[in-house]
Amino acid sequence: MNWENRLSKDAQSIKASEIRELLKILEDPEILSFAGGIPDPQLFPMDRVRDIRINLEKNPAADRQAMQYSQTEGYAPLRDWIADRCSTENTILERENVLITNGAQQSLTLLSTIFLEAGTKLAVASPTYLGALQVFGTRRPDYITVDTDENGIIPESLEEAFKKGARLFYTIPDFQNPGGMTIPEDRRVRIIELAHQYDVVIFEDTAYRTLYYDAPPPPSLLELEGAFLGKGQWQEKGLVIQMGTASKTLMPALRVGWTTAPKIILDKMVLLKQANDLHTSTLNQIIAHELFFNGLDEHVAILREVYGKRRDAMLDALRQYIPNSASYTVPKGGMFVWITLPEGMDAKDLLEKSIAHEKLAFVPGKAFFADEKGANTLRLSFSTCSPDVIRDGMKRLCALIQREQMAQVA
Ligand SMILES: Cc1ncc(COP(=O)(O)O)c(C=O)c1O
Repeated sequence: MNWENRLSKDAQSIKASEIRELLKILEDPEILSFAGGIPDPQLFPMDRVRDIRINLEKNPAADRQAMQYSQTEGYAPLRDWIADRCSTENTILERENVLITNGAQQSLTLLSTIFLEAGTKLAVASPTYLGALQVFGTRRPDYITVDTDENGIIPESLEEAFKKGARLFYTIPDFQNPGGMTIPEDRRVRIIELAHQYDVVIFEDTAYRTLYYDAPPPPSLLELEGAFLGKGQWQEKGLVIQMGTASKTLMPALRVGWTTAPKIILDKMVLLKQANDLHTSTLNQIIAHELFFNGLDEHVAILREVYGKRRDAMLDALRQYIPNSASYTVPKGGMFVWITLPEGMDAKDLLEKSIAHEKLAFVPGKAFFADEKGANTLRLSFSTCSPDVIRDGMKRLCALIQREQMAQVA
């Protein structure tokens, strides 16, 4: 049976990620991994989750309700909490503007189905989140890539993309995955101006927004669009659709994310989600709501403290050991540092050597580019290792880069 012939064009376009295959090696406990962009499970609020379960059990009717089917839009108190958190002086979000999804990944999937078809012009940063490229890729869009520097999206490059006919633009303004960059406020304002000038819909992904280690990031694109349009205008004229997730601040296994959008778009998403999976786990939404509503700030303060120290350890070690011919970004939050290796050095080859000789893993950067660039880049995550382990790992990685460079010259 030739199954390939029987598949839809969209299904045929889905390819296994070479990187994901390579990274299967990470299951080996001897490998020191800076690869996964995952939160540290030691920081999960396990005691709080246990208390929430115990409290629920005290009320059998509510406990049973938590195990029942529920409405597609999501658990109303959680939607209200998100609407309230995302509302700004100029843009008041209502419950009807919020859809709870199975993680931000499902927000991306639903938005892709609604907005993309083969050939739709979609602007994305170089580099950008691999998981977004995977979802978008299933719809076979026509990518237009936007250049970045240490401050993220370069507005001139974005305008070029919009002039080439981009209809949509996906961006992670805060502590980007994979680059770690944060877009400063003046560039954000320019992005909003350009989106309205060229009539481009923006998907704003705020996955890492609360994980800042120095100062809070600039206002979100949603907030700035509110100021740009004026009070009460967003429902009618807004172009920014924002998504968020509980995965980075609480726990990924909750699979709780959300999208905020003007009602007309949200209604479409609800219908599509209903067809896909009916709703997100009722129990998990109740747990997420409890964790958000009670004690979130204290919990996130601990994450900032711990991850901030790990970030500092990684940057200190890179400052000390990285060869001059390589460079790295300085993230103000999130989980990632992005390395640009000396010209001509291939990060995939380096990974193979790094695993074989140092038992140390990272993600080669090429997979984060929609246009096949970035062979000499790589992503490091500092979220799961202690500062000492990070320092030792960076010392060894930098020594490997140095050895590779000398071998290239010889
Ligand atoms: C930028 C970005 N967006 C979305 C996601 C998906 O998150 P979720 O667990 O909410 O599906 C991730 C996960 O790594 C991410 O880095």
